[in-house]
Amino acid sequence: MSATPSIPTVDLHDLTSGDKGRLRAAAESIREGFGEYGLLYVRSHGIDPKLLDAYYDAFLRVTSKPEADKRRLARPDIWYQRGWTPPNTEQAVAGGGQPDFKECYFAAALAADPEAASTNPQIYADNVWPDGDDDFRENYLAMGRALHAAGVALLRGCATALGLGPSAFTIQVEGGPHVTRALRYLPLDAAQVEEGILWGEEHTDFNLLTLLPGGRFLDPAGRRCPPPDPGSGLYLRTRGSPEHPGGQMVHGKPPDGCIVAQVGQQLEILTGGTFLATPHVVTAPKTPGYSRLSSAHFVHLHPYRMLFPMESFRTPETVRAYSPPVLAGTYDLKTLVDIHLAPPDALDLLGYRHYDRLTGQRTAREG
Ligand SMILES: [Fe+2]
Repeated sequence: MSATPSIPTVDLHDLTSGDKGRLRAAAESIREGFGEYGLLYVRSHGIDPKLLDAYYDAFLRVTSKPEADKRRLARPDIWYQRGWTPPNTEQAVAGGGQPDFKECYFAAALAADPEAASTNPQIYADNVWPDGDDDFRENYLAMGRALHAAGVALLRGCATALGLGPSAFTIQVEGGPHVTRALRYLPLDAAQVEEGILWGEEHTDFNLLTLLPGGRFLDPAGRRCPPPDPGSGLYLRTRGSPEHPGGQMVHGKPPDGCIVAQVGQQLEILTGGTFLATPHVVTAPKTPGYSRLSSAHFVHLHPYRMLFPMESFRTPETVRAYSPPVLAGTYDLKTLVDIHLAPPDALDLLGYRHYDRLTGQRTAREG
């Protein structure tokens, strides 16, 4: 790796161009980006900037509602997988234990697999929408669908880049619990800036692939503004090397017109670590009062798919590193508990739950 890491850009049109040279170059960018950094910049992604603007304008209307109205859109019973997530709810696993200073919204833009929805109801819950705001719902769904289409195109490119059949990953995400998140990182006061409160603790995403369409800073008066200081925003940690055992922190700043794609834990596991889940952190500005809107689309494996290195990535080391195999839906549940969105007793849903029947029968016999 060079002293100044430089994140590659992949053009999605290159992947479908039919031109061998362009395809080869795109595959090389994917291997380098996802292999070294766990992150890529994506061009020709099909996200309309006007739609992104409309989506953020509509989201701001929701976050501006009184707290009591937003609480009615919060659904702890489905582990906050739809509707509003209050600030200080989610907590990164590997970070310093500080809850994230953000409020979020979750909605799914794609049709659920009905069978998986009946067995994994929380991650496939019906969307929750504020009353009387069709514009919010329509822009949200359009944004989710557009980001998902870019993700599917990129997953086909990933498969090709790894010498697999083009649908090796896409077939495993069909009907998955894909979800689109809108986030508002909250303004810090002077004391919080002093304390170094983070907007998002360092973590890796637990899904397969994350698409980030770019955010919007707002000044203390709520007006759109450029980044208040060069140090605020998304930073990612590169793979460790002999020179930099802890990796290097790189500012994720896509070139104009590009979006960001990130490897999640599921893709790392399937590829036995060939592609790396990116540890990333969102730092707040050093000036109080600024906020930021941002969004992420999470492409997930179908919950019945197995999380284990795919055959061509199995070696004694990768098998050891990613054992035991586990269903993606089980992994989702466990991780949602780990990050404090699901309650600890959600783990009781795993495994056999009918031991009390035997107790009941014994009691009946003896009684
Ligand atoms: Fe993340």
